[in-house]
Amino acid sequence: MDLLDILYTPLDLPQPPEVNTKQLIEWIETHKQDLDPYKKYAYDNNITSENNPRIIWPWNMGIVYLNWDKNINPGWIGNFDKTFPDLSKYMYSVFDIPIEELGTIVILPTKKNHTGMGFLHQDPGDIGIRIYLEFEHIGKNKLLIQKTKIPYTCQQTIPLPVDPDLLQSEVLECKTLTNRYCWFINNTRAFHGTWTEVENSTRIAVIVSGNYESGHKVMKRLKNKILESAEKYKDYAILW
Ligand SMILES: [Fe+2]
Repeated sequence: MDLLDILYTPLDLPQPPEVNTKQLIEWIETHKQDLDPYKKYAYDNNITSENNPRIIWPWNMGIVYLNWDKNINPGWIGNFDKTFPDLSKYMYSVFDIPIEELGTIVILPTKKNHTGMGFLHQDPGDIGIRIYLEFEHIGKNKLLIQKTKIPYTCQQTIPLPVDPDLLQSEVLECKTLTNRYCWFINNTRAFHGTWTEVENSTRIAVIVSGNYESGHKVMKRLKNKILESAEKYKDYAILW
């Protein structure tokens, strides 16, 4: 089995520390101005679709670490690491990423008052490592995924909203293991989106990635862990 054959799996890694989710969400609110230039960078480089009027963006995005390349490398933004020291350390060390190789940490709480389906999408990067810091109403709120019709071997540039003809019609649920855990998502052979049934639920996902130069090293180190996890959590994993 290759990593690209795994579309979703929980990862067999230590559980995230408990965080004060209210404080975390408030941090994003109170640092809006600090985050704006980096969010703008993300929009300008087509890294996020938040500004796309044709899609439903379900999150209140916070970028807390950025060291992408020599042009954009503030490190921890707004002293995030001083406010949340245990969480900051955990978010990269759990994936065995040396701080020099850390590229981005993006925190994605779903918006209050949002319900229904968030847009189907692929995250930046062919494959990715993720964390849930909170997931309320497991079984009602969900992550849904649809396989592409073609088993691509690298991420395609596909305009949003995604043309349903590119996807297999079956909608699969990425079953939630618990309210806090690390997981893996495939952004090459599948599109995913959030389903929110219960209004005002707290649900916080985190995207962690290596930087421009080290992304492949990060994945190489984790490869066996991801493959073993898909085996261990075979009742949860979704395979191509
Ligand atoms: Fe995503």
